[in-house]
Amino acid sequence: STILVLHGPNLNMLGTREPEVYGYETLANIDDRLRSQAAEHGHHLLHLQSNAEYELIERVHEARAEGVDFIIINPAAFTHTSVALRDAMLASGIPFIEVHLSNVHAREPFRHHSYFSDIAEGVICGLGSQGYDLALQAALTRIHR
Ligand code: DQA
Repeated sequence: STILVLHGPNLNMLGTREPEVYGYETLANIDDRLRSQAAEHGHHLLHLQSNAEYELIERVHEARAEGVDFIIINPAAFTHTSVALRDAMLASGIPFIEVHLSNVHAREPFRHHSYFSDIAEGVICGLGSQGYDLALQAALTRIHR
């Protein structure tokens, strides 16, 4: 099966970006770990980080055409703003898990609302980069069902 991991704006800065909030691990490190974990289980993992809303939307459209089985997405700031990316997720019909490194509910009120949570299979937040590993674990069991 194929799993797509999508990272929204500013996540390319992981490692140096407010490390007390987002941790010291780089995005490349996270993606590499996820790719090898998926490969161990015989699955193919693709990933994209973009600071541009349209690129993420177009990647989701392509994912549907490619037959991607599951998406793990950290929409980053688009979580709180993007009806367009939400609509793309709905249009793709691909099941997904929403991940946030930080506990968005313990932060500013504008981070409490997500345009994705009500349509996600599940939501993981506040566990740092481990959230991605847990999301992948959940995705793998769901793909096998
Ligand atoms: C984030 C939380 C968002 O509120 C923020 O805009 C981000 C990262 C997280 O992973 O904790 O860029 O999605």
